[in-house]
Amino acid sequence: MATTLFDYSGLQRSIAGTPLAPLSPLIPADLAAETSHGDFAKWLKGLQALPDLVPDSVELLDAVRIGKPGQLSQPQQDALQQALMLLHPWRKGPLEIFGVHIDTEWRSDWKWQRVLPQLAPLAGRRVLDVGCGNGYHCWRMAGAGAELVIGVEPMLLYVLQYWALRKYLQSPLVHVLPLTLEQLPESLPGFDTVFSMGVLYHRRSPFEHLDLLKKKLRKGGQLVLETLVIEGEAGMTLVPPDRYCRMNNVWFLPSCPTLQLWLQKAGFRDVQVVDVTPTTIDEQRQTGWMTFDSLSQALSPANAALTVEGHPAPVRAVLVATL
Ligand SMILES: C[S@@+](CC[C@H](N)C(=O)[O-])C[C@H]1O[C@@H](n2cnc3c(N)ncnc32)[C@H](O)[C@@H]1O
Repeated sequence: MATTLFDYSGLQRSIAGTPLAPLSPLIPADLAAETSHGDFAKWLKGLQALPDLVPDSVELLDAVRIGKPGQLSQPQQDALQQALMLLHPWRKGPLEIFGVHIDTEWRSDWKWQRVLPQLAPLAGRRVLDVGCGNGYHCWRMAGAGAELVIGVEPMLLYVLQYWALRKYLQSPLVHVLPLTLEQLPESLPGFDTVFSMGVLYHRRSPFEHLDLLKKKLRKGGQLVLETLVIEGEAGMTLVPPDRYCRMNNVWFLPSCPTLQLWLQKAGFRDVQVVDVTPTTIDEQRQTGWMTFDSLSQALSPANAALTVEGHPAPVRAVLVATL
């Protein structure tokens, strides 16, 4: 059961004979056998409880919507919802599955609305999405016409959430691998577009991150970098001495001019800041599908322009650059 549940043979076929073929040995032959995660059995139960259904429609361009509400009876919808809840917390979405609305912590669709108009058109491109979470944006990239989308994500739960959707989306285009960027072959210049969204600030060494991203792009390819920034001149960077927004793994928050310099120094050209948006408590919030604390608990109760630690509240920038 488990080996067929996580069948990556379509990806193996897609990359054979292409510049991405060196990925082949890293693709799990049997994800279930290769994990020792303590919660895996619970998550697997959720996946196995998903009813066998074939969607009569799939929408990926304007949303991620699989099937229509009318396709299921109420008891079938309840069973689907219970199975999906075994994969809690759902952070990236929203996702619509046979009328079950997964109201995720993040309105990831809002980020995509800001990013998509700024991109070299994705049609026909091979895309890498580094730190893709459950693959929400990967599906939207496929919806925008990408030829192949590979997401890499170290958190097993999110990879399994991708597999929950894959059960109903038998797409040969979108593949999420349980890997970090660092685990990929260092030199793999086979992608036309590389996304790193929400990852840079988690890295201890931003230049190493930019260099590894660069080495995944073909010459002339596009990098899309989305990360937390601060206001300020070139040269300014916040290194939180302790936590930032209650996260203990945040290292560098540059100003936009600093980030532009970093990208130029890392070897990119045509570096442009295409969006700067404060994150609101409407975009990131607690929901029935993500019941833990969220952004509003990480902002200062006295001043919402500050985090609980006294740093500037989160603002995220999108930059595009060419190799
Ligand atoms: C803030 S989330 C962003 C998810 C998604 N890209 C988005 O923009 O909504 C960052 C994700 O990057 C993943 N991540 C962290 N370090 C990573 C690394 N070294 N390589 C790949 N993914 C990483 C985390 O597990 C997490 O799911």
